[in-house]
Amino acid sequence: MLKELLNSRKIPPLPVASSLEEWEALRQKLLHTLCWEEYGTPIPEPEALTAQVLEYKPRCFGGKAFFTRIQLTVKIAGGEISFPVEAVIPNSAKPVPAFISISFYSHIPNFSLPAEEVIDGGFGVFSFHYTDVTTDDNDFSTGLAGLLGSREEHSPGKLAMWAWAAMRVMDYVQELSYIDSRRVAVLGHSRLGKTALLAGALDTRFALVISNDSGSCGAALSRGKEGEDIDHITEEFPFWFCPAYRQYAKKEEELPFDQHFMLALSAPRKVYVCSAQEDPWADPVSEFLCCVAASPAWEALSLPGFSSPDQLPATGDAFHEGSIGYHLRAGGHDLIREDWQKFIAFFRS
Ligand code: GCU
Repeated sequence: MLKELLNSRKIPPLPVASSLEEWEALRQKLLHTLCWEEYGTPIPEPEALTAQVLEYKPRCFGGKAFFTRIQLTVKIAGGEISFPVEAVIPNSAKPVPAFISISFYSHIPNFSLPAEEVIDGGFGVFSFHYTDVTTDDNDFSTGLAGLLGSREEHSPGKLAMWAWAAMRVMDYVQELSYIDSRRVAVLGHSRLGKTALLAGALDTRFALVISNDSGSCGAALSRGKEGEDIDHITEEFPFWFCPAYRQYAKKEEELPFDQHFMLALSAPRKVYVCSAQEDPWADPVSEFLCCVAASPAWEALSLPGFSSPDQLPATGDAFHEGSIGYHLRAGGHDLIREDWQKFIAFFRS
C-alpha cells in the first residue's frame, strides 16, 4: 500500500552509491542542484570568528548544569555580523554530546526547549534566535543578508543564511573541550526545520539532523503534497529561497529532484523527521513518504535505512531502528517536550 502511494507521487529516483567515497562525490552534486534550484548557492565560510562571553552561571538546575550566553562575531568578505548564542551544558567530567537549536526564541529554556530535560538526558544545548542573524522578510539590506551583495536568480535565500549561522555556531562548539564535537545535532521547527535540513546537508559535522514539522520545502515530498505547495510558499515567503525557485510553482513535476534528495543528503549520518497529526499544512503523509523514499541512500551504503512498516504510522509510533527516525505526534504544529524526548532517545540509539 505504501509502495503504491509512493509510486503515485512519480518522484525522480534517488541516485545512490555503494561506497562512501562515491557517495560523497554524488552528494556534492545533488547538494549543488538543490542549492542552485531552491535554496540558493552556499555562502562562503567565514574569514574569522570570535566569541565573547556575555554571561556565565556555573550552577543552574540545582548545579546539574552551567549556563553561558556568548556573542559570536563572524567576519566575511562583505563585513561583520554578531549574534548571541545561549547554552546550557551538564556539569560533567566527560565531554557531552549536544544539540544546536535554530530557534524562534531568544532565551533558554522556552516553550520549545525543555532545557532541564535535555540536561538530564546527558546533552548540552546551544540555541540562537534566527532573526538575530537576518530578518525574516524581504529586506536584504541588513544583517547577514546585507553583507552578501545584490540578490540574483540563484543567490541564497534566508533559509540558507540561518543555516549558515548554525554552521558558525558549530565552528564555535567544535572548539569547546566540554563538548563531544563528533556528536552534535542540528535541530529546528517549521521554517527552521527546513533550515536545519539544509544546514545538515551543507555541513557533515552535524552527526544528526532533526526536522520538526518542516513540511513544504523541508521534509515533505513536493509532488502530490497536501496543504502548502511551492506556489504558496514562494508567493508568501519568496525571500526564503533563491528567486529561481519560483519557476516550479504549480510545476512540481518539472523539478529535477524532490525533497527525499534533501533528506538523503544527511547520509551516512542520521536524520530524524517529526510530524504532528493536526498539521495538514505541513502534510505528515508527505513527510513519512519522503523518509521512505530517502532510505535507499543508506541502504546502498549497507547501512540501515528507514525501517517502515507497510503502512502509514499510527500516532506516537517512532521508528528508531534505522538511520532515519520518525514520529507522528498527536496535536498541532509545535515543538514540544514529547518531541525532544524522542530526539534524545534516537540520538542515544
Ligand atoms: C508558515 C509557512 C510554513 C512554515 C511555517 C512556520 O505556515 O507556510 O512553510 O513552515 O510558517 O515556519 O511556522
